[in-house]
Amino acid sequence: MTVNGGFRSAQWFGATGRTGMAHRSWMRGQGFTPEVFDGRPVIGIATTWSELAPCNVHLHRVAESVKRGVWQAGGFPLEFPAMALGETLLRPTAMLYRNLLAMEAEELMRANPLDGVVLLSGCDKTTPGLLMAAASVDLPAVMVTGGPMLNGKYQGTDVGSGTAVWRFEEDLVAGRMTQEECAIAEGCMARSNGHCMTMGTASTMASVAEALGMQLPYSATWPAVDARRYETAQRAGQVIVGLVRQSLRPSAIMTRAAFENAIRVNAAIGGSTNAVVHLLAIAGRLGVPLSLDDFDVLARDVPTLVNLQPNGQYLMEDFCYAGGLPAVMRELAGAGLLNTDAITVTGAGIGANVADAPCWNREVIKTTADPFQPAGTGTAVLRGNLAPGGAVIKQSASSPHLLKHRGRALVFDSPADYYAVSNDPDLAVDEDTVLVIRYCGPRGYPGMPEVSNVALPRKLLLRGVRDMVRICDGRMSGTAYGTVVLHVAPEAAAGGPLALVRNGDWIILDVPARTLTLEVSDRELAERRAGWQPPAPHASRGWTRLYCERVTQADSGADLDFLVGASGHEVPRESH
Ligand code: FES
Repeated sequence: MTVNGGFRSAQWFGATGRTGMAHRSWMRGQGFTPEVFDGRPVIGIATTWSELAPCNVHLHRVAESVKRGVWQAGGFPLEFPAMALGETLLRPTAMLYRNLLAMEAEELMRANPLDGVVLLSGCDKTTPGLLMAAASVDLPAVMVTGGPMLNGKYQGTDVGSGTAVWRFEEDLVAGRMTQEECAIAEGCMARSNGHCMTMGTASTMASVAEALGMQLPYSATWPAVDARRYETAQRAGQVIVGLVRQSLRPSAIMTRAAFENAIRVNAAIGGSTNAVVHLLAIAGRLGVPLSLDDFDVLARDVPTLVNLQPNGQYLMEDFCYAGGLPAVMRELAGAGLLNTDAITVTGAGIGANVADAPCWNREVIKTTADPFQPAGTGTAVLRGNLAPGGAVIKQSASSPHLLKHRGRALVFDSPADYYAVSNDPDLAVDEDTVLVIRYCGPRGYPGMPEVSNVALPRKLLLRGVRDMVRICDGRMSGTAYGTVVLHVAPEAAAGGPLALVRNGDWIILDVPARTLTLEVSDRELAERRAGWQPPAPHASRGWTRLYCERVTQADSGADLDFLVGASGHEVPRESH
């Protein structure tokens, strides 16, 4: 971390002659006094602020609190923008750009005179993207997520962002809600700064970042508008200066033990399946051995402790007031389900961080002795001739009666193809049908969007059917629910067996046995494969072309193959 007796930044600001003048002079144009170049730690604050990423729009103000802390601790804070990924606006999907954010942030951290970084994220992809970047640079880093919105309120009840959208849509299609009521409801869901306040992907990844040890305790749950969110940010500014002085880096924090903690915490909070693909990608940057099967094995002993939507009743604000993630981790530690020695950004082990964490509401945060859902109901990993590379299903969001199911396939090559006929009263579908939605994987869509939980056919909704088996090589929003097999690998666009399924084929889903089987002979599949043609490329140039050519499959984290691993933080050669 130190260079010639100083910090990394000294190679810029401590230089003499023309070079040093150039580095300092233009910075002084911002009005900084010369003492900021006295060799103190320079702290970058990577902010994913943007008005096009509404969940992150307050991060500018969070950054101001971080700066206070950095100044207090004797550092020199410098805020810089990193690509803001707004889940709700970006097309075809924010996931197409997660690796681009990671690549951009990694290069900015390495190329600039930084000794440590504070990572400001919020919306779904910004948290894993920045963690991937920090892992590959391995400068001391602290994450500060932006916090969840306040609970949504509609007609006197709490409504969760994302989760309520799916229900409102079903109610609209089934005639239980009018378009006017939907317009009112949409204004009642997102009523403050912050990210989705269900246990969707943003809340999951914020919790996972805390469980990995990269956020300060309670960081995941303070609402975005709570004063303690800003207090935590200021504390993070103090902490990062200390981490630089101690040279405590992400590679020493995000160890295999930390990833095991993150996986178990994800199970305990009923977290998003998206954590699977993101954690695999982050681990890949660090060289930490982590496989898809780890998610099944490690989660099997973990009961769901948190009663939050979409699995349960409450929202992140309730989770915060009930005691937040430390109360959950204390329960896990008590049951021997937490690697308590795993070091965190506090400098202490995670067990010490949560040893005295209180719980104020056992309706929201249950105990391991009396859990919200029993152990074994978390994310399961499936394999079989339909998913040789694996697939995942969120059991707690599924209908129990569908976890063992045999049905005939009804196949669509895109969600659009399906929605073009989903309202047809003559569609050949019943509640036993298995809907197959394919070409939605990393290469296929491209970007592996959250389209897998297609709404049920209208004729079934009108009959009161609320769930059916769906299988897809894409992802599902963490706010969504349903018996949906996700992340099928290899994806159809890569020639996976999903591409060979035909209407009427029998498919067996057996979650207890962890299998997904297409009842078609190997010989027949070989014949079908001989006639299969890969889809035309999505783009002839630019990021989309690079992404499609180099993206790995979901079971490897959907990173770009040449971004796996780390390049460290060696100071590049002089620019002048
Ligand atoms: Fe940003 Fe849900 S849309 S967190």
